[in-house]
Amino acid sequence: MVVLSADLPAGLRMLSLLALSNLAGLSSGAAILPRDDVPAGYVAAPYYPTPYGGWDDDWADAYTKAADLVSQMTLAEKTNISSGTGFFMGPCVGNTGSALRLGFPQLCLQDGPLGVRTTDNITAFPAGITTGATWNKQLMYERGVALGQEFKGKGANFYLGPSVGPLGRKPRGGRNWEGFGADPVLQGIAGAQTIKGVQEQGVIATLKHAIGNEQEEYRMYSVIQAGYSSNIDDRTLHELYLWPFADGVHAGTGALMTSYNAVNGSADSQNAYLINGLLKDELGFQGIVMTDWLAHLSGVSSALAGLDMNMPGDTLIPIVLGTSYWMYELTRSALNGSVPMDRINDMATRIVATWYKLGQDQDYPPPNFSSNTRDREGPCYPSALISPTCVVNQYVNVQADHATVAKAVAQEAITLLKNNGSFLPISTSVPLSVFGTDAQTDPAGANSCTDKSCNRGLLGMGWGSGSADYPYLDDPISSLKRKAGNVTYYDSDTFPSSIPTPGANDVAIVFINSDSGENSYTVEGNHGDRDASGLSAWHNGDALVKAAAAKYSNVVVVIHTVGPLVLEPWIDLPSVKSVLVAHLPGQEAGDSLTEIIFGEATPSGHLPYSIPKSEDDYPSSTDLITFEFLGQAQDTYTEGLYIDYRYLNKNGKTPRYAFGHGLSYTTFALSSVSLTSVTELTTLPPTRPAKSTSVVASLNQTIPAASEAYYPSGFNRIWRYLYSWLDSGEADAAYAAGQSGTEYAYPAGYSETQKAGPPAGGPSGGNPALWDVAYTISATVRNTGASHAGKAVVQAYVQYPSGSAYDTPVIQLRDFIKTDSLATSSSSTVELSLTRRDLSVWDTTLQNWVVPAGEFKIWLGQASDDLGWVCSTSTGACQESDAGPV
Ligand code: NOJ
Repeated sequence: MVVLSADLPAGLRMLSLLALSNLAGLSSGAAILPRDDVPAGYVAAPYYPTPYGGWDDDWADAYTKAADLVSQMTLAEKTNISSGTGFFMGPCVGNTGSALRLGFPQLCLQDGPLGVRTTDNITAFPAGITTGATWNKQLMYERGVALGQEFKGKGANFYLGPSVGPLGRKPRGGRNWEGFGADPVLQGIAGAQTIKGVQEQGVIATLKHAIGNEQEEYRMYSVIQAGYSSNIDDRTLHELYLWPFADGVHAGTGALMTSYNAVNGSADSQNAYLINGLLKDELGFQGIVMTDWLAHLSGVSSALAGLDMNMPGDTLIPIVLGTSYWMYELTRSALNGSVPMDRINDMATRIVATWYKLGQDQDYPPPNFSSNTRDREGPCYPSALISPTCVVNQYVNVQADHATVAKAVAQEAITLLKNNGSFLPISTSVPLSVFGTDAQTDPAGANSCTDKSCNRGLLGMGWGSGSADYPYLDDPISSLKRKAGNVTYYDSDTFPSSIPTPGANDVAIVFINSDSGENSYTVEGNHGDRDASGLSAWHNGDALVKAAAAKYSNVVVVIHTVGPLVLEPWIDLPSVKSVLVAHLPGQEAGDSLTEIIFGEATPSGHLPYSIPKSEDDYPSSTDLITFEFLGQAQDTYTEGLYIDYRYLNKNGKTPRYAFGHGLSYTTFALSSVSLTSVTELTTLPPTRPAKSTSVVASLNQTIPAASEAYYPSGFNRIWRYLYSWLDSGEADAAYAAGQSGTEYAYPAGYSETQKAGPPAGGPSGGNPALWDVAYTISATVRNTGASHAGKAVVQAYVQYPSGSAYDTPVIQLRDFIKTDSLATSSSSTVELSLTRRDLSVWDTTLQNWVVPAGEFKIWLGQASDDLGWVCSTSTGACQESDAGPV
């Protein structure tokens, strides 16, 4: 196990770094390993140059101010703000250099998607997958607001989230739980709502990981293996994997993080097709593209490919010595002419513009916490070995009333899969026997394992950089004991050999779970992904349920899980009356659940993925890929658009529980469904707007004097800290090389002429016409039950015209809405909308979004297999349908 724990003392931390470097080898894998051929048809075509930022009018003010500041910067200041200062070289998980002379501070980048990582006095929010399961856009936003307030309160400039990649292509994938579900629309909407909430607080959101990080193991480059290549065809890339990134860019995310792996053979942090082409030109992204941590593999190539910031600054190998591909090397590259000055100016301007755009020039607090220690005082530069001491922790409490939104998300996510005979809710007076270690906080402490790298006790989040420390953990057993009169807890995952014979009305509540996380840790044989456990409950959970079901006539199963579990071993047992998936609830795991069990609240969560009957129901191309010694594993997305329900539907495989499924204690009916055409659709979108002139173009693009890069005289260097200066002799030599007339060997297809941009492109999200609302759908939702109030989720799926040349999944989610709580017999009207993009396919020949000719059917209902209404775009009529699309 490689530990990169911030809690370690400096000496041990250095050993950890060494351990990582040993694992990865002695020099960059990228440099010595041959790159395997990717299969035919998967292309990462050259795309140069990097489009300047600043051509989106919404960003114009920020860019004007930024260009003014950047025009006053020396070369070394520009390269300093584009790079990290080194692993553990500042309070945060990532720290940039500064330009303090001009008032531009060091910026703090901090994990992670569900809360401020490795610190105290924060809220441990429910994970992304839990948030997705609420299907509640307002809650997604409110969670974002609360997260933003906490990151700002701790002085973090960047929130390293939300995660919309992985998308969930592989059910065993380790980090699917950090995102919102196995569907691009669910991911896209939840990601955008999070970004909106976070950024309204002035914090820069960092949408990650672009793209293809669908598996944890073998994601990184090393001397024995290149990071795997996710080979994704153009259409699939646009319609699935890039889709939620487009939503995030449209929502204004300030930053994007690349991923460790390659796409179509080119490592993501230096993939010009991905960064220059797709993210910056087609999606018109105006902010900052940064690497994932230690995913930086080259200096010049990554700069030319459009990277703006490397994190945490070091080269992967050997990180202990304080080497970087950027910082002083980027300065050198600018002086010797290999990285053109307009690229240096562009990256610096993008960074400063994002800072202005988020208002961080106005009294933004500096970090008041340390990722490295919980002590009040500690080394200012923890991995320097010799470092001055600073006050590093001020223990600022940023929780405010965020427990309320955390609990609301945890509760609204709880998904009732099965409820035979309306067994739930139960009375608090019923005798309860509770089984499973997952009901209770880890006896060694809720935060006993670094980054949650163990599965002991209640599973409230997965492991790795997406975790945070619990300030407290409201566990289910405490909550059950608080509420119910007669609770017996068997704190074991093995069914007790002898227990009293239960009475006929006794209820057994069985807690089981399934964990996963980041590849930096191996937990019970799982290397991040669920490679050892598969989709079965951990700790013999299936046997526990079966044993309880043999003894008790009334069994309620509660599942805490990172993703789908196969429930077949016990789901049909007659004693298993009810099954609740509580996902990963974070700190509010107790009352959020027990209020559902006892009927103080009605479940309203819906599955953000399908639960198959067997893992074999999925295509073998989505299995985990294996080790490729001295090569690059090829992970080829041959299934194309067909993942999760798209695949099951196409292949006639009925899942145990369909995507979007979720029961309530009451029932809802839809009526008065109507479709309104808002914007007449042409086959192709109207012509994209031309780019306005970027202020970056007006900056001085000549190579500056070498003296702009000299170390200040008498400067006291900290060993391992990364600086952007060069010794004067080195700077002079670089400058002279640049004047010698020798041209750098630029990659094939390299150009320095700014492009007009692709037809599908446009500012912040692509051609604005893609976001035009084509149709709205209105429906009345009525609570038709007799006794419980509850919230309904209405889901809209599109079925493309039959006979079209484009092979398209039968149905695809396009919008959803959750009602407020409806009292019995009451109703409300909801409105959903479909944009031009929602009704388009990506045409690989035209390189544009095309609306296929013919009749679209818009299906409306409460799950992907419960779509009782259909509207036709040809007739405009909507009607009830018993048949459904699948
Ligand atoms: C690697 C993870 O993949 C990424 O999500 C995280 O933000 C960084 N490490 C920083 O911890």
